[in-house]
Amino acid sequence: MTNKIISTNREWDLVIYGATGDAGSAIAMYVANNFDTYEKKNKKNDSTSRFRWAIAGRNERKLLQLRSRIIVGRLKPSSNDEIGIIIADSSSIDDMSNMAKSTRLVISAVGPYTTLGESIYSACAMNGTHYVDITGEVDWVYSMREKYSKKAKETGSTLCSFAGYDCVPCDITMHLARSVLLASSASSSSHTANQKDDASTTSTIHFTSAETVTQVNGGAMPKGTIRTMISKLPEGAAFLKKLIRYAGGGSSGGSDSGGNTRGKCSKTTRSLIQWLLPRWSSEFGAFTLPHFMGWCNIPVIHNSYCSSVAKTTEEEEGGGDSNSMIIDCIYHDRVAVPFSQGCFGTGYGLLQTLIVYTILLIGTPLFLCFQIFVAFVPSTAVILLKLFDSLQYSGNTQQNQKQLEDSTVEVYTYATSSEGTKAVVHMFVNGDPGIKCTAMLAAETSFSMLSLEDKNKLPKGRIGSPSMIVGDELVKRLQNEETMSGCCTLSVISVVDNKNQNTTKDYIESSSKKDS
Ligand SMILES: NC(=O)c1ccc[n+]([C@@H]2O[C@H](COP(=O)([O-])OP(=O)(O)OC[C@H]3O[C@@H](n4cnc5c(N)ncnc54)[C@H](OP(=O)(O)O)[C@@H]3O)[C@@H](O)[C@H]2O)c1
Repeated sequence: MTNKIISTNREWDLVIYGATGDAGSAIAMYVANNFDTYEKKNKKNDSTSRFRWAIAGRNERKLLQLRSRIIVGRLKPSSNDEIGIIIADSSSIDDMSNMAKSTRLVISAVGPYTTLGESIYSACAMNGTHYVDITGEVDWVYSMREKYSKKAKETGSTLCSFAGYDCVPCDITMHLARSVLLASSASSSSHTANQKDDASTTSTIHFTSAETVTQVNGGAMPKGTIRTMISKLPEGAAFLKKLIRYAGGGSSGGSDSGGNTRGKCSKTTRSLIQWLLPRWSSEFGAFTLPHFMGWCNIPVIHNSYCSSVAKTTEEEEGGGDSNSMIIDCIYHDRVAVPFSQGCFGTGYGLLQTLIVYTILLIGTPLFLCFQIFVAFVPSTAVILLKLFDSLQYSGNTQQNQKQLEDSTVEVYTYATSSEGTKAVVHMFVNGDPGIKCTAMLAAETSFSMLSLEDKNKLPKGRIGSPSMIVGDELVKRLQNEETMSGCCTLSVISVVDNKNQNTTKDYIESSSKKDS
C-alpha cells in the first residue's frame, strides 16, 4: 500500500466539477458558507495557507454567473472571495488531466456518470488526486473499481463514491451503529478477560439484524437524477447483475480481499427481493414501503460492511485494530408510510400500503414492457432525454429555495450484533434529500478527506463509500453542533446490551472518557 502524500502545493484544495448543475451549485454554495469549519480546524488562518477552491464546468458564462451568485448570496460574509474558475469538458482528456493535477480533491457532480463520469474519475486515479462523487449508479462504480483500483493504489488517489443522499444517511448511521456495537463488545470482552485474567480482547462479531427507516418530508427531484433514470432504461438485466456483484466485492476485491463472495451476493439478492415487499417495521413501529433508493443502498451497505472496520493507513501497514464486524444478515432499507408510526392496532398505514402495491402491480408489467422495448430500440432513451432537456427543467431554482430548505430527512437505523446488543442511531437533516442534503453530505465528506490527509491519516489508494474512507471523521463532523448549527444531527439513541444490561448511559460515559 502506497503512502504517497498528495502535494499540498497544488493550486487548489478543492474543485467542484459540474458546479453549474442542480446538485453542483448547491455544493458550491454549501462550501462557500462552510469552508471555514475545515480551515479553522486544520490550517493557520493566514493568507499563505487559506482554503483555495474553484468551480469547474464546460460553460464559462454560467460559471461566472454562479460565482457572482455565491458571493452575493452566501450567508456568512467572507474575506476569502477568491473562487477560481476552471473551464473543462468531460470529453477532453487534457482538460480532465490538467484539472486533476491542479487540485488535491475533486467533487464531481457531472452526470449521468455512466456516460459522463469516467474521464474525471480516470484523471484523478492517474494523477493521485482524491475524488468524491454523488452517484447512485452502483453498476458504474463497480466498473470503475474494476478498472482503476490498481492505478489508485499506485498513485495514492482515494476515490469515494455515493457521497450524497445515496448513500450517506444509511451508510453513516450503520457506521455509527457498528462503532457502538464494537465498543460494547470490547468493553464486555475486556470485562470477561479481566475476570479470567486473560489478555486477549479481540473479537469477531457480526450484524444479525439491520434496518434503516427513513422519513422524507418534501423536496424536489434534481434534474440529473431524472436524466440518469432515463439513460439507464436500456440497461435492464446487466444493471441488476452489477448491483449484486458490487456487493460481493468483484475481482478487484473492493473492500473485501477474500471471504465468501457468493454468500454475500446471496444476502444482497435476498435483501433486494425482500426490499420489494411491504413490511411491518417492528422496531420503528410502522408499516413501511421500499425506500426509493434501496436498490442502490442495499448493495452499497453489503459492500461497506462485508469486511473488517475501515482501517487507517497505519493500521493497514502495521496491523492495527483486529476487531471486525461484518454484515451477515438481510439489510432492510425502508421508508415509513407518513404518520403511521405506532398505528399497528388501528391499521393506519395498511391502506396506503395496499394502494401503493395496487399501483405497483398494475404499473410494473407496463414498465417492464416499455423497458424491453427500450432495450431493443435504445434510441428511445436518447429521444426521451432530448425531450426532457427541451423542457428546461431545474430542481434547484431561486424560486424553490424555500421549499428545498423547509424539507427534512430523518433516518433511524436499528442494528443488532451477534452478541445480542442492540443499537439505535438517529440522523436528521434540514433540507431536501436530492439537493440540500446531498450538497451538505458531499461537502462534509470532502472536508473529512482533506482533514484526514492533513493529519496523514487518509487511507490512500482506497475506493469505496464514505464510511469505508472517512467513517469516524465524518461522524465527528456531523456530530459537531457548533459547525453543523442545526443543519444536521447524528446521535446514538440507545445501546442495550442484553447480556450485561448496560445501556446508552454506559456507552455515553465510556465514549466521553475516551474523548477526554
Ligand atoms: N446522490 C444523490 O442523492 C444525488 C442527488 C442529486 C444528483 N445526483 C446525481 O448527480 C448528477 C448531477 O445531477 P444534477 O441534478 O446536478 O444534474 P444537472 O443539473 O443536469 O447538472 C449536470 C452538470 O454536469 C455538467 N455537464 C454536462 N455535460 C458535461 C460535459 N460534457 N462536460 C462538463 N460538464 C458537463 C452540466 O453543465 P452545464 O450546466 O453546462 O450543462 C451541469 O453542471 C446526476 O448523475 C445525478 O443522478 C445524485
